[in-house]
Amino acid sequence: MNINILAIESSCDDTSAAILQNGTILSNVTANQTVHESYGGVVPELASRAHMAQIVPTVDLALKKGGISIDELSAIAFTRGPGLLGSLIVGVSFAKGLALRLNIPLIEVHHMHAHIHALFIGERKPSFPLLSLTVSGGHTQISVVHSPLEIEVIGKTRDDAAGEAFDKAGKLMGLPYPAGPVIDELAKAGKPVYSFPEPRVPGLDFSFSGLKTSFLQFLQREMKKDHHFIQNNLNNICASIQNRIVSILLNKLISASEQTGIKEIGIAGGVSGNSELRKTLAHIGHKREWSIYIPPIEYCTDNAAMIAMTGYFKYLEGQFTDQRVTPEPRWTQ
Ligand code: KG4
Ligand code: ZN
Repeated sequence: MNINILAIESSCDDTSAAILQNGTILSNVTANQTVHESYGGVVPELASRAHMAQIVPTVDLALKKGGISIDELSAIAFTRGPGLLGSLIVGVSFAKGLALRLNIPLIEVHHMHAHIHALFIGERKPSFPLLSLTVSGGHTQISVVHSPLEIEVIGKTRDDAAGEAFDKAGKLMGLPYPAGPVIDELAKAGKPVYSFPEPRVPGLDFSFSGLKTSFLQFLQREMKKDHHFIQNNLNNICASIQNRIVSILLNKLISASEQTGIKEIGIAGGVSGNSELRKTLAHIGHKREWSIYIPPIEYCTDNAAMIAMTGYFKYLEGQFTDQRVTPEPRWTQ
C-alpha cells in the first residue's frame, strides 16, 4: 500500500502544501505573500490573514498536481513551529481539522529539522553523520545529523540570523524585503572592494549584530562625503556585505568539519540559495575533499516538500501527534 503524505507549511509568510508518495515528492505548491514587500519585513497580522485565504486553494492544487485524491492520504504532516503564532495557527488548525475528518494520523514537524530534510529529497542522498549549515531568515545553525531524526545543534547564532543580516543590510540601502535575493543579484555586477570586520565569537556560534552596526556606520560615513554613495556604488556595496556574510558562515563550517572530522556537508534554508555561498562552498569543498549537498532553490526557501520529507521519516518510525497539539512558536530542539 502506498504511503501518501500531505504536508502543510505556514510558519512565516509562505503558504505551502506538498504531496509525498513513498518518499518521493509528487507536488510542491507555494503561494508567496507579496503584501509585506513595502513594509520592510513580514507583518504577522497580514501573514495570518493571507494564510487563511490561501490554504484551501494551495492544498487543492497540491492534491491535483500530485494526482492524489483526498481519500488516498495516509497522514498529514504540518509545521508546529518555530514561527509566527498567527501563521502557525492557520496550518495547524487546518491539518487537525482535515486529519479528524479523514481519520488519519497527524505528524508534527520542526521547521528547522525540515530544512535539513530538504537535503534528502533528491536522488543523491547524504550519508550519516552529516554536517548541516542551516541558514534562514530566522535561524543560523550548524548541526550534526546522526540519523534522519537524531539532530544535534553544535553552533547557532547569538543574535541575528544570516538571512536577517542580508535583509537588514538591504533595508539600510533602501532595498525591498526580503533583500537577500536582491543583494545576491546586485552583487553579481560588483566586486567586494569594501571590507567589514569578522566578528570574534568563540566556538561554533555566530553573531551578526556587530556586522549590521559596522555596515550602518560605514554607510553613514560615506554618505556624509557623497550623498549618492549608495546609488553610485550599489553593486560593490552588495558584493562586499555578501562576501563578509558568506565568509562568516563558511569559516565556522570549516571549523565544524575540522572539529568533528565530518566531510559529508549539506547547506539548507533560504540563504543557501545564495549564489556566492554556493560557489565558494563548492570551491572550499573541492579543496577539502568534502561531499557537498545543496537542495534545489525550490526546496531551500520555505516549502512544504521538506515538511513532507520529515513527515515521511516520522511516519516510518510511527511518531504521530495527538489531536490536542497546539503551535509552538519558540520550539527549541
Ligand atoms: O528559509 P526561508 O525561506 O524562511 C525562513 O525560515 O526564514 O529564508 C528566508 C531568508 C530571507 O532572509 C531571505 O532574504 C534569505 O532567506 N534569502 C537569501 C537568498 N534567498 C533567500 N539570502 C541571500 N541570498 C539569496 N539568494
Ligand atoms: Zn525556513
